[in-house]
Amino acid sequence: MSFLGLIYNFFWIPQNFGISVMTTPPPSSTSPLPFLFLLFLFPTIASPLTLPHPPTPSPTSSPDPSSSSPSTSSLDPKQVIALQSLNIPTSKDPCSQPSFHNATLCDSSKPFRHLISLRLSNCSSYVALSFTALKSLSTLHTLELINCPVAPIRFPPELISSLTSFTCINSLRKVSGVWLSQLENLTDLTVSNVQVKASGPYVILGHMNKIKSLTLSHANLTGSLPGHVHSNLTHIDFSGNQLKGTIPSSITMLDSLETLNLSSNALSGEIPPSLGDLISLKNLSLASNSFSGSIPDSISALPGLAHLDLSSNLLNGTIPTFISEMKSLKYLNLANNNLRGVVPFNVSFITRLAVFKVGGNSNLCYNHSVVSSKLKLGISPCDKYGMPVSPPSKDSSADESSDSDYDDSDEGGSRHKKEQHHGPNKFVLGVAIALSSIVFLIVFLILCSKCCR
Ligand SMILES: *[C@@H]1O[C@H](CO)[C@@H](O)[C@H](O)[C@H]1NC(C)=O
Ligand SMILES: *[C@@H]1O[C@H](CO)[C@@H](O)[C@H](O)[C@H]1NC(C)=O
Ligand SMILES: *[C@@H]1O[C@H](CO)[C@@H](O)[C@H](O)[C@H]1NC(C)=O
Ligand SMILES: *[C@@H]1O[C@H](CO)[C@@H](O)[C@H](O)[C@H]1NC(C)=O
Ligand SMILES: *[C@@H]1O[C@H](CO)[C@@H](O)[C@H](O)[C@H]1NC(C)=O
Ligand SMILES: *[C@@H]1O[C@H](CO)[C@@H](O)[C@H](O)[C@H]1NC(C)=O
Ligand SMILES: *[C@@H]1O[C@H](CO)[C@@H](O)[C@H](O)[C@H]1NC(C)=O
Ligand SMILES: *[C@@H]1O[C@H](CO)[C@@H](O)[C@H](O)[C@H]1NC(C)=O
Ligand SMILES: *[C@@H]1O[C@H](CO)[C@@H](O)[C@H](O)[C@H]1NC(C)=O
Ligand SMILES: *[C@@H]1O[C@H](CO)[C@@H](O)[C@H](O)[C@H]1NC(C)=O
Repeated sequence: MSFLGLIYNFFWIPQNFGISVMTTPPPSSTSPLPFLFLLFLFPTIASPLTLPHPPTPSPTSSPDPSSSSPSTSSLDPKQVIALQSLNIPTSKDPCSQPSFHNATLCDSSKPFRHLISLRLSNCSSYVALSFTALKSLSTLHTLELINCPVAPIRFPPELISSLTSFTCINSLRKVSGVWLSQLENLTDLTVSNVQVKASGPYVILGHMNKIKSLTLSHANLTGSLPGHVHSNLTHIDFSGNQLKGTIPSSITMLDSLETLNLSSNALSGEIPPSLGDLISLKNLSLASNSFSGSIPDSISALPGLAHLDLSSNLLNGTIPTFISEMKSLKYLNLANNNLRGVVPFNVSFITRLAVFKVGGNSNLCYNHSVVSSKLKLGISPCDKYGMPVSPPSKDSSADESSDSDYDDSDEGGSRHKKEQHHGPNKFVLGVAIALSSIVFLIVFLILCSKCCR
């Protein structure tokens, strides 16, 4: 791969165009002679190693016949150098559209065009962000880093002021909340699969007065939900963190909010009925937390709600009947809670949904004259008092149906515990039977051999 591979990479055959420099083998793994030869001929190849590199007239050496020679102005030479230092190919004009993987986007200013959007993805480990490069890229409105484990650096003030959208997915290794908080002009912030060090989201959001879309997910973020967030937010995703505490009542101020994802945190308390004031809400997930109490009726007042996931919490009480009136609902997951009583839905409602889950609620049952058992809801049918007839037919031991009383306390967990409890008992019984059979067999054989002698 070494020699041919380098040539192949140099000519940027579309497959390798973009910033995916993973395929370029690190110089140490190539045989040194051809590499040195290439290094001598084409200084651009070496630029990621020693940056920023002196300007190279690479756009003129473009061998690519398909690149439509820019009839209008082309990219600012300073930015061309910056892109090269980031290991982004410039042999084809980065402003010509579509750029491969849509990695670059330019404005139409003259005499030189400027970058307004840049996506660095799948960076090789020896790409480094340099202050000088970022300074000449300060016309960027959008910067995306995806799978780029480069070291985080100080951003130049010009870039900070210009950025309106910043995405960092599985990149920069680790960022601090204070570092993020300086990006005050952002309308969109996405940080995911990156460790974020902050004592709470409020550190990051303090001065972001224009923010509309906010994702801080799988970031091991600690602290509690911020009491005051900007009211023009349409999207909040805090999923997969370690946030604690309750949902603040000030959440009702977010009347533009369309998505609220708080799943997989350690949040607790009751779901505030004021959630029903979020009139624009379309997708809501509070899954995998420790929310308790009942599902507020007000949720069914959300006219556009399409996706409701309250699974894996400690919710008790009955399912609000009004949910069946929600015309936009497509996804309803109430599984693994302590809900009880009769499921208040008929077949036509359930089959209209793309996803319907209520399993793992041991005191919940369905009316078999309304809902067919063929739907396999994972709960048992009701008796005439609205109580489950028997536990869902996995482990139909007699004692389990007898204690389906009013013991709502911690059913989700206790079902598990019971199953684990049965395990060892059966195992012991099995071993005992096996052992006694073997002993019997041996005695039988000994007796037999004595008899037959
Ligand atoms: C980055 O890698 C992923 C997975 O390996 C791939 O799907 C994606 O297309 C790559 N992106 C670029 C710009 O090369
Ligand atoms: C680039 O963006 C255009 C328009 O947004 C889209 O249709 C196209 O699929 C994108 N191409 C790639 C390779 O992502
Ligand atoms: C945000 O942008 C405005 C101009 O649009 C600028 O005056 C201000 O300094 C910027 N804020 C930061 C923190 O750079
Ligand atoms: C979050 O913390 C856990 C355990 O401390 C660790 O395994 C995981 O990699 C961390 N996640 C991130 C995105 O750093
Ligand atoms: C929210 O957005 C609207 C228009 O999109 C704007 O008029 C208003 O000033 C914004 N509110 C805040 C607090 O920035
Ligand atoms: C919430 O986030 C989780 C994990 O990040 C994701 O799997 C889920 O689809 C999201 N739900 C909604 C409603 O956005
Ligand atoms: C539901 O849970 C709440 C708090 O956990 C408790 O106060 C209430 O009594 C429970 N209700 C029922 C019907 O078990
Ligand atoms: C919202 O929910 C709908 C229905 O489940 C789903 O198709 C869509 O992708 C979700 N959107 C977001 C942003 O999670
Ligand atoms: C099913 O329930 C919905 C909502 O309550 C109702 O509008 C509809 O008439 C019911 N369908 C049948 C067949 O009972
Ligand atoms: C089941 O549905 C039938 C017919 O709608 C009704 O008469 C009966 O009372 C219901 N049973 C329970 C336990 O709700």
